[in-house]
Amino acid sequence: MRIVSRSVLVTGGNRGIGLAVARAFAEAGDRVALTYRTGPPEAATGLGCLAVRCDVTDAGQVDRAYKEVEAAHGPVEVLVANAGITRDQLLLRMAEKDFSDVLDTNVMGAFRVAKRAAEEMVEARRGRIVLISSVVGLLGAAGQTNYAASKAGLIGFARSVARELGSRGVTCNVVAPGFVETDMTRALNDKQRAAMLGKVPLGRGARAEEVAAAVRFLASEDAAYITGAVLPVDGGLGMGH
Ligand SMILES: NC(=O)c1ccc[n+]([C@@H]2O[C@H](COP(=O)([O-])OP(=O)(O)OC[C@H]3O[C@@H](n4cnc5c(N)ncnc54)[C@H](OP(=O)(O)O)[C@@H]3O)[C@@H](O)[C@H]2O)c1
Repeated sequence: MRIVSRSVLVTGGNRGIGLAVARAFAEAGDRVALTYRTGPPEAATGLGCLAVRCDVTDAGQVDRAYKEVEAAHGPVEVLVANAGITRDQLLLRMAEKDFSDVLDTNVMGAFRVAKRAAEEMVEARRGRIVLISSVVGLLGAAGQTNYAASKAGLIGFARSVARELGSRGVTCNVVAPGFVETDMTRALNDKQRAAMLGKVPLGRGARAEEVAAAVRFLASEDAAYITGAVLPVDGGLGMGH
């Protein structure tokens, strides 16, 4: 456990990768807040995390969540923008709303929480922002034009934030997971799973904890000189991109 405890906020921390990330920081001694949308998550409160209701598509809810976190834990020093959705469909059948909803949650949501976090981080002249992208943002995927566009967008966003805020001691990095065993991938059928896993050099999906370990590294003192980086946690699936 570290001696210095930091104020950490994880969006979409009630399940899946976000919950594993929240657990990793909590176990290291940080003061962790996580967001949920419906019903306080039991798994999270069991970890001693502060659970705050927040839909990242609503700027008002984002601001209210930050105020709640700041009152309880102080200004956010580590932000993990993890909340994300898929609405898969082939391009020719893709409804405009399915495209815009995915961008609104995955990119605009990250923008809303990062902008709010940056205000305090710039003031404090230190801070860590980690965005959860995907290997799909680099490789593309049939049926995921909306999701791939959103996850690629996060990379350009992160690198711009890294350039803007580097001189203020704030780093901004991206973690790009491959296939992770969560509700998101449990929605795939056996054929889709086998096709994806068949392309992974390590021959298996990731555990959410393996993604969390990369996030924690990028937020750690050991990563003080890393910014604008895209760290793959994909078993080799996207290597070379
Ligand atoms: N699983 C994978 O293989 C994989 C691979 C690469 C990248 N990723 C990325 O990793 C992140 C987490 O994925 P996961 O696999 O853990 O997915 P998940 O199990 O489906 O969880 C998604 C999380 O995002 C939250 N969320 C969705 N829309 C939100 C909104 N508008 N406001 C606030 N929270 C919202 C969900 O909250 P609710 O519980 O309220 O729905 C949930 O906590 C996502 O950004 C995803 O794109 C996942």
